[in-house]
Amino acid sequence: MKRILSGVQPSGNIHLGNYLGALRNWVALQREYQSFFCIVNLHAITSPQDPRELAAKTRELARIYLAVGIDPQISTIFVQSDVPEHAELAWVLNCITRMSELERMTQFKDKARRQRENVGVGVFDYPVLMAADILLYQTDLVPVGEDQKQHLELTRDLAIRFNRDYGETFRVPEPYIPPVGARIMSLSDPTKKMSKSDDDQKGTIALLDDPDAVRNKFRRAVTDSGMEIRFDRERPAIMNLLTIYQLLTGKTREEIEDHFAGKGYAQLKAELAEVTIEFLRPLQERIRAISDEELDRILAEGAERARSIASETYRLVKERVGLVGARNFN
Ligand code: TYM
Repeated sequence: MKRILSGVQPSGNIHLGNYLGALRNWVALQREYQSFFCIVNLHAITSPQDPRELAAKTRELARIYLAVGIDPQISTIFVQSDVPEHAELAWVLNCITRMSELERMTQFKDKARRQRENVGVGVFDYPVLMAADILLYQTDLVPVGEDQKQHLELTRDLAIRFNRDYGETFRVPEPYIPPVGARIMSLSDPTKKMSKSDDDQKGTIALLDDPDAVRNKFRRAVTDSGMEIRFDRERPAIMNLLTIYQLLTGKTREEIEDHFAGKGYAQLKAELAEVTIEFLRPLQERIRAISDEELDRILAEGAERARSIASETYRLVKERVGLVGARNFN
C-alpha cells in the first residue's frame, strides 16, 4: 500500500483554510493509503510559544484530527517530538542542503522580512525538518495546501540528491494539492491567505469559533465591486466565499450560481455563515467528546507505530552515511 504523510503546526487557531486545503483530503485519502498524520510541534517552536499553551494546543489539534474524521484504527496520528528520528534526520539532511536553497523559500523570505535580523535559525531550517518528516516514512504522496508546494519541491530535491550521493534510500514523494480549496483567502483581505498566525483574526474562521463569531466574521467580510454572485477569478473576495460554500455544501458551481441568482452579497454571507455553523457544530461536539484517556492511548499507539517505521529508515540512513559503529558493519 502506498503511503501518505502530512502535518499541521499546533500554533494559533486551526481554521477553515487548514481544513479545506489539507485535513479534508487526508480523510478522503486515508482508506487508499497507509497514512501518517503528524502534529508538528517542533515546527511550531520556530516562533515563540508559551510552553503550557503549546502543550494544550498539541492535544487540541490531535482532537481536531479525530473529530474531522481521521480514523486511528487505520491511520497513525502522532506528535512529532515523540519520534526523535525527525530531528536526527533533519541534521543529516542539513548537511546536504545549500544555504541558497533555503534563502529562496518564499515563506522564509516573508518571515525574514517581518522579523529582520531577529529571524531564527529554526525558521530558516524549517523546510529541512519538513523534508525529514516526509522522507522518514518513505512517503509517496503529501496532501497539503498550495503554500507548501515549494517546500515539497525542496523535499524532492533533497531525496534525489541523497539517493545519488549515498545510494538509493528514500522514496521521492509527490505533492497532492487539491484542485479547489488549496488556497482559502482571508475574509478581511482576499489578497492574503487565511492564516492562523495573522494578528488580525477577523479574516480567519477558526474550527473552534462559536456561531456568533462565525456570523460576525462573514458579515464583515470584504466583498468586491459589482453585484453578481458568480465564480469569477477577477473578483477574488466573492470567489473565495463561493469556494468555501461549494466545498462545505458539495454543490456544483452551476447549482450555486443558480441558487444565488438575483440575490445580494448580504444573502450569500448570511447563508454561508449558517452552512459553516452547521458544519462546525457536530465537529465541535466530537472534539469535546474525546476523553483525555482515549487521546493518551491514541497518541501513545501512534508514536509507537510511527517510530517503528521512522527508526527503520533512519537506521538505513546511518548505514549509508557511515554513522553506525564499526561493530555493525559486515
Ligand atoms: P500549516 O500548519 O501552516 O498548515 C497546515 C495545512 O493547511 C494548509 N493551509 C491552507 N490551505 C488552504 N488555504 C489556506 N489559507 C491554508 N493555510 C494553510 C497548509 O498548506 C498545510 O497543508 N509546513 C507545514 C506543516 C508540515 C508538514 C510537514 C506538512 C510540517 N511537516 C510534512 C506536510 C508534510 C505547515 O506549516 O502547515
